[in-house]
Amino acid sequence: MFDNVLNEVEEQCRAERIPMLGPQKAKLLAGCVEKAKPSLIVECGTAIGYSGLWILRELKKIGAGRLITVEIEEDNAQRARANFEKAGVSDLVDSRIGDASEVLKTIEEPVDFLFLDNNKDGYFACYKAIESRLTNPATIVADNVGRADQMADYLDHVRSNYESETHWFESWRRRRDGGNNPGPPRRDGMEVTIYKH
Ligand SMILES: C[S@@+](CC[C@H](N)C(=O)[O-])C[C@H]1O[C@@H](n2cnc3c(N)ncnc32)[C@H](O)[C@@H]1O
Repeated sequence: MFDNVLNEVEEQCRAERIPMLGPQKAKLLAGCVEKAKPSLIVECGTAIGYSGLWILRELKKIGAGRLITVEIEEDNAQRARANFEKAGVSDLVDSRIGDASEVLKTIEEPVDFLFLDNNKDGYFACYKAIESRLTNPATIVADNVGRADQMADYLDHVRSNYESETHWFESWRRRRDGGNNPGPPRRDGMEVTIYKH
């Protein structure tokens, strides 16, 4: 059942061109969750819940842990909530609506896992907004670091202060005209950082 919902959400994202992590990167994210066994994960950028479902499936397997996920677009957040409900995991997730860099300031509990997948130029603000609640250690995963120019402040900070590794993936450019020829390959990365203080 869970996997059927995940497949449906993936298909909806593809059909409606809603940005999502995709299965290759999602496997890396799920592996990080499995390794960290976090008590509280914070995700910035829910969209309609694709990456959230991957995270929640991992938390279910572990048998512990919760997710707070933040989305600025109300329609997306409502669809994500319906998808979490359908997959039977809504008890493990708290979906919040708003600008992640503001919503994160209101989280008071310790956070041992942060996933950044919102507006790219907002990563550093989100990190700063939650930094004082990050545990020692904490895992931070950031998507789309191939667009380094849009998040130079964030990448400079984590790469110069913490153990931080870039994982590269090859994806295919979508054609703007909707044709089937995918065009030239494009590299994109995910940055996995082990934060310590
Ligand atoms: C790349 S998509 C997220 C994909 C999602 N993590 C997944 O893999 O299914 C980025 C999402 O971030 C949301 N977003 C953009 N700016 C935001 C902000 N300041 N705070 C919260 N969400 C934001 C967008 O509306 C969009 O749904």
